[in-house]
Amino acid sequence: MRWLLWGLCIAGLAGCNPAVPGDVQEQDESDPVSGTTEGDATLPLDISGIRFTERTPGPVMVVLETELPTEADVQVYVDGYLVKEEAIPRSCQVLPAVTVCEDSVFRKVPVMIERSGEMNVEVVAMKGDRWRSESFSQTITLASCQSNQATYESELQPILRGSCERCHGNGNAGVFTADDTWPQFRTSLINRGDAFYRYPSGQDPGHDAHPFSPYDATYRLMAEMLWRAEGDFSCS
Ligand code: HEC
Repeated sequence: MRWLLWGLCIAGLAGCNPAVPGDVQEQDESDPVSGTTEGDATLPLDISGIRFTERTPGPVMVVLETELPTEADVQVYVDGYLVKEEAIPRSCQVLPAVTVCEDSVFRKVPVMIERSGEMNVEVVAMKGDRWRSESFSQTITLASCQSNQATYESELQPILRGSCERCHGNGNAGVFTADDTWPQFRTSLINRGDAFYRYPSGQDPGHDAHPFSPYDATYRLMAEMLWRAEGDFSCS
């Protein structure tokens, strides 16, 4: 199967370039944020920017671009609620005769926002008896909410057609087709979960194509649809 697909790719190279619909990509810019610091400013902690698709018609994935201290416990709060907690491990590189350890790592931290309005984010790092927090507020403007089915048909299905259909849906790779109705695709999303954005972005090894890259606009859109499917979201 894999060799057949590679054969098809070599036969028509143009067809192997990932097709990413331009209108989604154009909005894929990082906004710088300036935060407020509390605690020990010698701990390396920073939120440098956020990335999300403006005027998304419903729940939107907001990606925080952060620098976090190694060997620290990190918590992320959105509007006062703890949404993520992670222990950041040591990050060392073994070179001849010397081991170099970083005191911070760069991480993209995704959070989901369901409503327009002001979003307050606080990231807290604790390392030994030291702590530091960074916080910022930003207004997120969503378009008026669209049903899961309408969002699937207007936003995601064109991407399935452009980036997945040549393998999925023409008899080569199974799993789903670009012609699936929302109830069909919703079932696939629920059964395969984050494979839908981790496979096409190369975060999981072994998939034949990488039309997405981690946290880009198409990746976020797929994650937003999975969020809708898993949470049985409906516009209120
Ligand atoms: C170059 C061909 C190719 C392209 C393009 C492609 N895929 Fe795949 N994909 C495959 C093959 C082959 C498999 C393995 C088929 C199987 O499991 O039967 C697969 C498997 C998958 C799986 C199943 C993983 C699991 O749980 O087993 C998912 C989900 C998936 N692809 C999503 C996508 C999405 C979404 C796109 C478009 C953004 C895409 N693929 C584009 C070839 C492709």
